[in-house]
Amino acid sequence: MKNVTIYDHPLIQHKISVLRNVETGSTNFRRLVEEITMLMCYESMRDLPLEDVEVETPIAKTKTKMVAGVKLAVVPILRAGLGMVNGVLNLVPSARVGHIGLYRDEETLEPHEYYCKLPKNIESRLVIVTDPMLATGGSAVSAIKLIKDRGGKHIKFMCLIAAPEGLEALTKAHPDVEVYCAHVDEKLNENGYIVPGLGDAGDRIFGTK
Ligand code: PRP
Ligand code: URA
Repeated sequence: MKNVTIYDHPLIQHKISVLRNVETGSTNFRRLVEEITMLMCYESMRDLPLEDVEVETPIAKTKTKMVAGVKLAVVPILRAGLGMVNGVLNLVPSARVGHIGLYRDEETLEPHEYYCKLPKNIESRLVIVTDPMLATGGSAVSAIKLIKDRGGKHIKFMCLIAAPEGLEALTKAHPDVEVYCAHVDEKLNENGYIVPGLGDAGDRIFGTK
């Protein structure tokens, strides 16, 4: 699928398996979500532009490379996307953080917006939208539309587990957005949950069930 990257790195796959396990409690779950995000973020930043700079080491002046002034915003979809924020900030501490609040109606599976606050100059930033789960794709499609409506142009979407249905919906609605996911699962069940998935990501991160 165009613009979709799926990770086959052994460390990512191993950590996803631990995450899926029903016996994994919230403390470990949170730590793993952050670690996997950091590994994915490292790979997804491969295309960042570099510029030549001059640095003085204790020994000599040298010409070397640094990331060329890319301003980043990480935008979690509340709640579960919050669990991925520190994974990005660990690698890019200067990133600004926006928040988009969406919840999925349990009956219709339609997303409902309850909050949106984005960093200034969103149009000139690389925006990384985070949400561990891409199920029907409704939440991701809506969140990215909210960002585009406010001027966002260069957007990457990062999730841990995707259903084929969600990937299809997202790439169709936003073909310009680069999508990164750690694993594509089999299907959605009749309640809109990813199978085998990992259950309700928000509840497992925040210990609310
Ligand atoms: C979950 C998940 C995604 C959404 C995915 O959030 O974190 O945001 O469902 O489903 P979709 O692709 O079908 O839209 P939920 O609505 O349960 O809210 P929560 O994170 O606050 O628990
Ligand atoms: N949201 C979740 O947290 N898990 C799913 O499997 C689907 C949507």
